[in-house]
Amino acid sequence: MNNNDNFFLRNTWYYALPSDQIKPGMMISRIFLGEPVLLVRSQDGKVSAMRDICPHRGVPLSCGRFDGQEVECCYHGWRFNPVGSCTAIPSLVEEQQIDLSRFNVQSYEIREAQGNIWIYMPDPDNPQPPASEMEIPVIPGFDERSPQFVEIVKFPCFVDHAVVGLMDPAHSPYVHRAWWWRNEQLHEEVKQFDASPYGFTMRRHRLPENGGRLYWLIGGGVPETEISFRLPGVRIEETTIGKHRVVNLTAVTPISDTETEVTFALYWTLPWVGFFKPLMHILARTFLDQDRTVVEKQQIGLKYNPVLRLIKDSDMQAQWYYQLKREYARSVAEKREFVNPVKGQVLRWRA
Ligand code: FES
Repeated sequence: MNNNDNFFLRNTWYYALPSDQIKPGMMISRIFLGEPVLLVRSQDGKVSAMRDICPHRGVPLSCGRFDGQEVECCYHGWRFNPVGSCTAIPSLVEEQQIDLSRFNVQSYEIREAQGNIWIYMPDPDNPQPPASEMEIPVIPGFDERSPQFVEIVKFPCFVDHAVVGLMDPAHSPYVHRAWWWRNEQLHEEVKQFDASPYGFTMRRHRLPENGGRLYWLIGGGVPETEISFRLPGVRIEETTIGKHRVVNLTAVTPISDTETEVTFALYWTLPWVGFFKPLMHILARTFLDQDRTVVEKQQIGLKYNPVLRLIKDSDMQAQWYYQLKREYARSVAEKREFVNPVKGQVLRWRA
């Protein structure tokens, strides 16, 4: 596999930020896929997004003010409503009637559910509205509940390497060495995979005692896990322990060619787990830092643009990711239905 055909997947939903980071009347400036984006939450609670560049003289709109209804540029006071429509140019005198819509700022579609804000990043050369069948990820059974726990880490790499790292089963014994997670002995894993919407799913299976000690420590039943992946970079891991559930949503968002944000959110039904949040933050940060550290090392080699040799079966999920990504980009370019290239099969590896 060549390492020089990197591209951002467009016309799809990306994780933007947790809902509780933006209160009514607030605005937040972010970069997504190399584009400056201004997110605002109006006084009525609705989140909107627009390009964070004033069309007059290029000052970031985030340098101005947001009064809960409109954004005002700090340079000459041009005003924009939450969907980027220009509403006022203060320097105009009464006789100078001009069509303000000529100065509208690009807006972005936003969805908010279960404590998460998602943004639709269109392809500027081939913008297409969100496909109804590719909605934002929603975790069944949690209604409008927000995640009880969120950790966000920036990885110094192109998005593909962060996504592949998420679905890489062979790195754990070498990267995540901790008594509470894995032991050091390799053993064979056999897992059934099926195609699922815009991705694939590792079928529900019993979690081995040496493959997730924290879940076994919880008690109350045998832990069983199902892990699904879908484009553009969303991994959902659902673990059931008796009548309880712990669901991990991990979402990958490209910031630039060299930086990617990984959001790790947890939902659970065990009421007492909240007491351990401080400890969970330490464990999650340790776990994600281990991934980030190895990705930093990977960047040293990737500078020389090596051919990457993915193998069967342990790299099959990585290969599926690249196939899914290419097929999605082609289906959008050709304005045709997406055809999932993943074929259900059993994968075996040692980890
Ligand atoms: Fe924004 Fe002039 S640069 S109003």
